[in-house]
Amino acid sequence: MIVSPERIPVAGPSITDREPELAAEAARTAWYQDHYVFNARFERMLADYIGVAHAVSVPHCTAALHLALAALGIGPGDEVIVPNVTWIASVAPVVYVGAEPVLVDILPDTWCIDPDAVEAAIGPRTKAIIGVDLYGSMCDWDRLQKIADRYGLHLVEDAAEALGSSTRGRKAGAFGRVSAFSFHGSKTIATGEGGMLATGDSSLFDRVLFLRDHGRQPKDRFFQNSEIAFKYRMSAVQAALGVAQMERIDALIAHKRAIFDWYKSRLSGLRNVSLNAEPAGVLNSYWMVTVVPDPSLGLDKLALMAELDKRNIDSRPFFSRLSDLPAFADRPTATRFTTPHERGAPISRCGVNLPSGYNMTEEKVDIVASALVEILGERAPVG
Ligand SMILES: Cc1ncc(COP(=O)(O)O)c(C=O)c1O
Repeated sequence: MIVSPERIPVAGPSITDREPELAAEAARTAWYQDHYVFNARFERMLADYIGVAHAVSVPHCTAALHLALAALGIGPGDEVIVPNVTWIASVAPVVYVGAEPVLVDILPDTWCIDPDAVEAAIGPRTKAIIGVDLYGSMCDWDRLQKIADRYGLHLVEDAAEALGSSTRGRKAGAFGRVSAFSFHGSKTIATGEGGMLATGDSSLFDRVLFLRDHGRQPKDRFFQNSEIAFKYRMSAVQAALGVAQMERIDALIAHKRAIFDWYKSRLSGLRNVSLNAEPAGVLNSYWMVTVVPDPSLGLDKLALMAELDKRNIDSRPFFSRLSDLPAFADRPTATRFTTPHERGAPISRCGVNLPSGYNMTEEKVDIVASALVEILGERAPVG
């Protein structure tokens, strides 16, 4: 049996001397009139990179999505259509604002929300659609935008996992009316915890600035709160880490893509096993390289993870279908379009995220891929 000599973690950032250098500079200098300098730099770098006018640094992506929905005026009595297979943070903010998520199926290749399923779920209470660029894949944003326009719905992009991906040259985070990113330590760029909201809409941007600072205008010096709102700001030290990461964004994305290519060259021969998709016109930044063995192979994600674990390799399960989680057990509205046979079910049951952190070298990928061939080999002979 192949056993890695050292534990291979599933995710982790790329930290050079530059990150602590800028973080220390922020800790020394980002006070008094300069308290927002690093945040403003980070916001401008991200906005310019994705090609939108405005970005707002926040404590995490969950906060960005919460602010987005609040700023769009979504609230009690409203429904928001979301994919059934994603991290719960894509959906929890819908509940925070008092609205109801409506879970719909995903596509079999990109694992992103199915536009046909979205259209079928639209009802009189529907106010918005949240598309999630899962594991670096891109949603079918053209179709989602057309549906949103036809029914007068807001379109929100959860790009937490897709910084650096693009469709026909347009970057993740530039779709819909507002988008959100995560900079959690496992993400494409990391600030520890952290997030960003991005939008090309100036009035929405103003509303977000107001809502994220306890319902007061950005230049208010007299603590005049005109609404009860939220406190969602990112610290300067985190923003400095973000600036250092954005300085290297092209190299970081190139590394992610190299990791995927190393895996692909070793695994693409396995029959009945699929990897992340990159349809024509899409560039996938492959946040997490993911294998989905066909259910016919008889190995679910937990069994596959256990086999990898025996070989000293860490991995993660594909996100659960939200409709299968206890948290959604008493939400009949949320789950009214989900069925045990929907396409997301086998993907969610069998998919596993492979080690994709920036410490992955070709040698380490070789160990993981060889382990997978060993585990799946007889079930999925190399074709
Ligand atoms: C798809 C998706 N949406 C939202 C989030 C929330 O990000 P954060 O942990 O920064 O709040 C994550 C991060 O884990 C995510 O993967």
